Amino acid sequence: MKAGLYLHIPFCAAKCAYCSFDSIPAEKNSPAIRGYFEALNREIELSPGGEAGSVYFGGGTPSFAGAELLCGTLEVLREKYALPQGIEITVEVNPGTAEKGFFGKMKAAGVNRISLGMQSGEDKVLKYLGRIHSNSETEKCFKEAREAGFANINLDLMYGIPGQSLEDIEREAAHILGLAPEHVSGYCLSIDEGTGFYKRLKQGEIDEVPDELASDMYYLLKDRFSSRYSHYELSNFAVPGKEAVHNQIYWNYNDYLGFGAGAASKSGPERFSNENDPFKYMELIKRNDSAILFKEKLTEETQIKETVFLGLRLLCGIDLAGWKTRFGKDFLFLFGKQVETLSELGLLELKDGYLRLTREGLFLSNEVFVEFV
Ligand SMILES: C[S@@+](CC[C@H](N)C(=O)[O-])C[C@H]1O[C@@H](n2cnc3c(N)ncnc32)[C@H](O)[C@@H]1O
Ligand code: SF4
Repeated sequence: MKAGLYLHIPFCAAKCAYCSFDSIPAEKNSPAIRGYFEALNREIELSPGGEAGSVYFGGGTPSFAGAELLCGTLEVLREKYALPQGIEITVEVNPGTAEKGFFGKMKAAGVNRISLGMQSGEDKVLKYLGRIHSNSETEKCFKEAREAGFANINLDLMYGIPGQSLEDIEREAAHILGLAPEHVSGYCLSIDEGTGFYKRLKQGEIDEVPDELASDMYYLLKDRFSSRYSHYELSNFAVPGKEAVHNQIYWNYNDYLGFGAGAASKSGPERFSNENDPFKYMELIKRNDSAILFKEKLTEETQIKETVFLGLRLLCGIDLAGWKTRFGKDFLFLFGKQVETLSELGLLELKDGYLRLTREGLFLSNEVFVEFV
């Protein structure tokens, strides 16, 4: 099985108020960023190599590091890994960080998919989120990516932001449909510990959007996007044929190799991850030629549970015959009781050999997943 390759770039121009990702603000073109890429390239050079199923530069903000460093790492990757013709190569871009010529350089280096952190089409929401760009910058970026020849662009949209109404989401959906990207990810705001929003929530300055309203927003987006896209994963919509190859590797519980600070890997029944702190990561690579901090052997029980709640994220559901081939066990023999109860509640359905969430089950997926852990 070809592994998906993930490269983590932990630096951002500024930390957004809601973000709990492994990312830190840094100086543009700083020695820290250059040093980090040296370590990243070294880690790739020392890795086992093989054939890749996809490549994904995520963050943090890969585009903030600039085209030169990203292209350099892609070259190092090509020396070590076979990247078959047409393989999906994605770069995450924050619209406030793409310099002139960035997209042309990425295209020339073989990148064929751009994931643009749009978040909202409204300046007041962008400001509230602590984003460093305006909507006109997002649109300019989108246009530049198109002009550079990108025919596979994802837009990240956030909803469920304090103060947002259903009418606001209606406008966001229309705005995205007007831009017509090939792929859309729609994420409901999660207010996580350690973020600026969390602090404000605890101080009573902001209120979370009620579940019922967040649910209405989710289904509104689902229905509006269905005019152009296939809703193929809980939070993801794509023009048929443009579903994210890399992310499907995660949901299908296939192998991936992560490089960089905090990056996680799965290789068969083994899972391992790197030191989170970018500076400690650099130190470890320099000293030991390895930054792996955590390794675990996945028991069959863990693998079974994880395939269930990752597989149910996909709207096509879990192919029970394929699942039996993978584990040599009958799914309904193991989980018949849960399937029966959740089906009676109208959250799951078993049809044509596939087990999937119902429309109602989509927004309540977490309640379904806990029944399998
Ligand atoms: C690593 S970031 C994407 C790239 C880039 N760093 C950016 O922000 O433009 C991945 C996406 O996760 C989403 N996200 C991050 N934090 C979130 C949160 N707390 N709740 C919901 N979505 C979140 C945002 O849509 C973001 O674009
Ligand atoms: S949302 Fe993106 S740009 Fe903002 S802090 Fe997180 S990783 Fe960085």
